[in-house]
Amino acid sequence: MMKIRLGVNIDHVATVRNARGEKYPSPLRAAILAEKYGADSVTIHLREDRRHIVDQDLSLIKSKLKIPLNLEIAATNEMLKISLKQKPPFICIVPEKRKEITTEGGLNLDFKKNFLKKIIYKLKKNKSRVSLFVEPKKSDIKKAKLLNADCVEIHTGKFCTLVNENKNYKNELDKIKKAVNLGNKIGLEVHAGHGLTYKSASILSKINGIKEFNIGHFLIGESIFVGLSKSIKQFKKIIK
Ligand code: PXP
Repeated sequence: MMKIRLGVNIDHVATVRNARGEKYPSPLRAAILAEKYGADSVTIHLREDRRHIVDQDLSLIKSKLKIPLNLEIAATNEMLKISLKQKPPFICIVPEKRKEITTEGGLNLDFKKNFLKKIIYKLKKNKSRVSLFVEPKKSDIKKAKLLNADCVEIHTGKFCTLVNENKNYKNELDKIKKAVNLGNKIGLEVHAGHGLTYKSASILSKINGIKEFNIGHFLIGESIFVGLSKSIKQFKKIIK
């Protein structure tokens, strides 16, 4: 079976740093340690409001990291310009609303469709692998293919909330499975992320065809208690 990659999202190391306006804890240090402890890629989201990761984190991490950097961006001209300059090997385009606490849903692939298409084209030409963060909906998977994305990342937030609340998650799991199958069938690389814990990652890792998980908030939270090494290794064990 294909190895499933683990992308470690370190945004919330920056959240803790920014809470006090100090230089620590350092996202660069977290990125380098994540690499050392077995992460397959490191993810950061440069938000429009720079509430966690800031531009300097991006250039520093990009220059020091040996594993691929996965940069999450909103579909804006500013982010396109930064991405073209920094050339991260992986890019994931996500929706962004200023007031949200986190990325609340997948992209609306009908909104500014031509602009999205242009961004994807330019980023791919610049040698970045481009992924679109989408809801587990067949129509969105098809639209992502038409936009010429390399990958889709399926938003697992609703599924994870149901798992956390011990509610019936069967319908949501079914939607994810169907989206994964369709993505694979039409030649998209399929990833999954948002809200994943040991339990939800373990359930989803049994679906054939997910090539990459991107995990942040729970993994960084867990590392407060067990250390980054153990929380990464535990996730690697679960998704292997
Ligand atoms: N994937 C994408 C596209 C995201 O936007 C996020 C959150 O930044 C994640 C994965 C990670 O989600 P979490 O921090 O809940 O693990």
